Amino acid sequence: MHDALLRAREVCKSYDNGRILALNGVSLEMAQGESIAVMGPSGCGKSTLLSLIGLLDAPTSGQIIVAGEDLARIKNPSAFRARSVGFVFQDHHLIPAMTVLENIEAPMIALGLPRQERRERAITLLEQVDLMPRAHFLPARLSGGERQRAAVGRALANRPRLLLADEPTGNLDSVNGARVVELFIHYARQQGLGIIMATHNPDIAASCDRIIRMRDGKLETDV
Ligand SMILES: Nc1ncnc2c1ncn2[C@@H]1O[C@H](COP(=O)(O)OP(=O)(O)OP(=O)(O)O)[C@@H](O)[C@H]1O
Ligand SMILES: [Mg+2]
Repeated sequence: MHDALLRAREVCKSYDNGRILALNGVSLEMAQGESIAVMGPSGCGKSTLLSLIGLLDAPTSGQIIVAGEDLARIKNPSAFRARSVGFVFQDHHLIPAMTVLENIEAPMIALGLPRQERRERAITLLEQVDLMPRAHFLPARLSGGERQRAAVGRALANRPRLLLADEPTGNLDSVNGARVVELFIHYARQQGLGIIMATHNPDIAASCDRIIRMRDGKLETDV
């Protein structure tokens, strides 16, 4: 794939001095702007795979290239994460003492954007995730769906190339879950954003371009 956004080659990850093999030779390529759902039973390695692609952790062996950068050569993982990847987890991970607006602005500080531009971008994102009326609320005062939409806004704040979502709808009812995923897919199509989303929900997975299935740390099929 010439313009691949992601290239993973024979990625292995073991824990506990090799006693646990969470990933056992995963190879995967994705194009710019492609959306991929990762499915498979609990413990098959979905979250591990996402954490390596997002440089939250390093593989035991194998190679991962994101947007042309070999992750093993990156000296400053947090700077890479800030500029290239957005994360959405099952729990929203919003900062409780910050308003929704401030939470969405927070990642832009790491990019060094001036205050005015941070505010303007955050307001646009709030409109896009339909949370303008909640801009000055603390996360504790939002519904579960609203929190997760705020988390989507934050993940998109730095205009990442790749969005990594780990069971992003796991705590939501089907209506709110579908709404959050529609937001992702909308951005993927509009901005050429790649999405890798781990999910147990077949309906959610079906809205992605491609579904990959894992079992025991390996890729099973590529549908
Ligand atoms: N930090 C860790 N230390 C030791 N073992 C770990 C660690 N993280 C994950 N594992 C193990 O690696 C394997 C893969 O875990 P992972 O969290 O990637 O699964 P998953 O597919 O995301 O499961 P789930 O659907 O339950 O979220 C499991 O056997 C798990 O127990
Ligand atoms: Mg998981």
